[in-house]
Amino acid sequence: MQAKRINIDYTEYHSLGELSVQDQRLAQAAIEAQKSSYAPYSHFNVGAAVLLDNDIIVKGSNQENAAYPSGLCAERTAMFAAGAAYPDHAIISLALVGGPNGTICEVPASPCGSCRQVMAEYQAKGGKDLSILMIGKEKIYKFEKVDDVLPLIFDSLDK
Ligand code: THU
Repeated sequence: MQAKRINIDYTEYHSLGELSVQDQRLAQAAIEAQKSSYAPYSHFNVGAAVLLDNDIIVKGSNQENAAYPSGLCAERTAMFAAGAAYPDHAIISLALVGGPNGTICEVPASPCGSCRQVMAEYQAKGGKDLSILMIGKEKIYKFEKVDDVLPLIFDSLDK
């Protein structure tokens, strides 16, 4: 046997102004999207935005339901909307922002496991790295590819 280690690289920023112009644009779209969050049960509002390889940004926000499992996270709302509207364009970046009652958490909200799995699918479908920006008030994290937020990705039945 052999002990192994998985290393994950990411960049931490401390303000939106430190981001590239493209990432700032995507982060602003996620912040804007948070306003359309429908979260009457959790009161935790999340906004997400995805950038496509044709430079189009698609926004999404969490949409809750009285039958709890019927709701959907902001990230999947955005990715599925993009997949449905622009099936031939790769998603190359996703930004998310979240917090209680429309605020933004100090430390970035982090995507749930199901959203990470969906990110993995769209990264594989698009054939390009899909970067992830997690926006907090005090800190912003950038991961260059889905593999960095979902090590040992399940991506195929025929390996
Ligand atoms: N939520 C998201 O929209 N994205 C995540 O990655 C985590 C959680 C939503 C789901 C639910 O509407 C609320 O936040 C509380 O879990």
